[in-house]
Amino acid sequence: MAQQEDVFKKLVSHSKEYGFVFQSSEIYDGLSAVYDYGQNGVELKNNIKKYWWDSMVLLHENVVGIDSAIFMHPTIWKASGHVDAFNDPLIDNKDSKKRYRADVLIEDQLAKYDDKITKEVEKAAKRFGESFDEAQFRATNTRVLENQAKREALHERFAKALNDSNLEELRQIIVDEEIVCPISGTKNWTEVRQFNLMFSTEMGSTAEGALKVYLRPETAQGIFVNYLNVQKTGRMKIPFGIAQIGKAFRNEIVARQFIFRMREFEQMEMQFFVRPGEELKWFDQWKQTRLKWHKALGLGDQKYRFHDHDKLAHYANAATDIEFQMPFGFKEVEGIHSRTDFDLSSHEQYSGKKLQYFDPELNKSYVPYVIETSIGVDRMFLSVMAAAYTEEKLENGESRVVLKLPVALAPVKVAVMPLTKKDGMPEKAQEIIDDLKFDVKCQYDEKDSIGKRYRRQDAIGTPFCVTVDHQTLQDNTVTIRHRDTMEQERVAIDQLRSIIVDYVSLRNLLKKIKED
Ligand code: GAP
Repeated sequence: MAQQEDVFKKLVSHSKEYGFVFQSSEIYDGLSAVYDYGQNGVELKNNIKKYWWDSMVLLHENVVGIDSAIFMHPTIWKASGHVDAFNDPLIDNKDSKKRYRADVLIEDQLAKYDDKITKEVEKAAKRFGESFDEAQFRATNTRVLENQAKREALHERFAKALNDSNLEELRQIIVDEEIVCPISGTKNWTEVRQFNLMFSTEMGSTAEGALKVYLRPETAQGIFVNYLNVQKTGRMKIPFGIAQIGKAFRNEIVARQFIFRMREFEQMEMQFFVRPGEELKWFDQWKQTRLKWHKALGLGDQKYRFHDHDKLAHYANAATDIEFQMPFGFKEVEGIHSRTDFDLSSHEQYSGKKLQYFDPELNKSYVPYVIETSIGVDRMFLSVMAAAYTEEKLENGESRVVLKLPVALAPVKVAVMPLTKKDGMPEKAQEIIDDLKFDVKCQYDEKDSIGKRYRRQDAIGTPFCVTVDHQTLQDNTVTIRHRDTMEQERVAIDQLRSIIVDYVSLRNLLKKIKED
C-alpha cells in the first residue's frame, strides 16, 4: 500500500515536470482542487475526448452530439432535483476543525476491513507456498471470517442509513466504529449536516433584479432540455442517443487525490432514449459496450470492475460504476445509470411543455426512459496516466521512466532528431516533420545526447523516435525507435508516414470495441 502511495506521489510530480498537469493559480499558492492541463496534458486529454466522441457518434448511427451552454435556466436545477437533493453529508472534527464527508469516512473504514483480509490472505499464501488453497483459507480462517462479518454488518448498516438519508445514524456509525480524525486523532465529532454542492452566481445587474444561476454540476441536463429539439430536427427514432462533452462544477468538500476529485472538471455524457419497459435491457447493453471501450485501451482487463450502487440516486432504477484500479485502490471512473423517465417528466411538469415522443411503430406517445453513461475526462486521464507510468531497470544497469500510453492517446506521436546539428541533418529532420505534421503531432529535438533525448520522449510516452544520421544523407533512410521495446530499425523516409500513421490511428482502438 505504502509502495502504491509512493508511485502516486511520483506520478503527480511527473505530471507537473513533463507539462501534463499544473496546480491552478500556482504563483498565487494555488486554488484547491482546481488544475490546469499543460502542453502534453491537453493533447492527451483531447485524444481521450476524441476516442470517446468517435466511439459514440461514429460507431453508433443513432447517437448524435450537442454542445449546450454551461448556464441554464435555474428552474432546470429545481426540476432535476439538484437544488433540493444534490447534497453531501458533512461532519466536522471539533479538535482539528477539519471537515469530512461522513460517507467517505465510513467507506474508508470498509476498505480497512478489506485490507485486513487481504493481508491475512497474503501472509498465508507466503507461508504455505504452492500448496495454498485461497478459497479454503478464506472460508475457514477465523480472523478472515471475523473481519468479513464485521465488514458485512457495517456495509448493511451503512447502505440502510444512506437509503433512509438518516444523518443521525451515519454519525452513530462513525462513533460505533471508533473512526478517528486523521489529523487530530480524536473522535470528537459534530452532528452530520447536508451541504449542497452547486456553485451559484448572479446573472444580470442587481438593479434589474439579478437571476441566481448555477454552474452546471453535470452536463446531462443540457441534453434533457434539448432532447425534443434534436429528435425533431434530426428526425431521430427511438432508441437514440445524445452525447456531450463539457465542463461541470461541484463544490466538493473533500477535494483530494489530485485530479480525481476536482471542483471544476469535465464530463463525457450520453443519454440514450428508449421505450419504457426496455430500459434494463439497454442498461445491460451499455454496461458491456462501455466496459469494452475501456478494455480496448489495453491497460489491463483485471484493472476494471463493476460496482453496483447501494444507494440509488433520486432519478435511477439501476446504477453501476465502472471502477478502475488506481494507485489508491479501485475507484469510480464512470457511472452507468438507468434514469427512468424522471428527468423528462420533471421538466414537463416544471416547464409546462410536453416532452413526449410519438412512436410510429406503437402508434402512441410517451415520455422516453433514459440510460445514461457518464464518465469524467479527468478521472479517465488519471487512470491512463497511472497505468502507463512505468519505472524500468535496463540491462545496462540504467533505469528509465516511460509512459506506456496507448499509442493513439500519446500527446506526441513522433520525435524527429538530427544526430548532430551539422551537415544538413537538422534541415532533413525538419523536412520529415513538414511531411508528417499534417497527420500526427510531431516534435523536433536536437538538444543533448541521443540517449537523453530518447529518455525525454519516453517520459511523455512518445511511441516513435526517428533519428536522422550520416547514412540518411546518403540513402534517405532513418532509424525508427519503438518506445516500449526500445528496438530500432532502419526504414526509408518515404515509408515513415504509413508506418507511423497506421500504427497510432484511433481506428485501431475503435475497431477493438467492435470485436467480439
Ligand atoms: N450525470 C450523472 C453524473 O453526473 P456522477 O456519478 O455524479 O453522475 C459522473 O458523475 C462521473 O463524473 C463520475 O464517474 C466521475 O468520473 C466524474 N466526476 C464526478 N465528480 C467529479 C469530480 N469532483 N472531479 C472529477 N470527476 C468527477
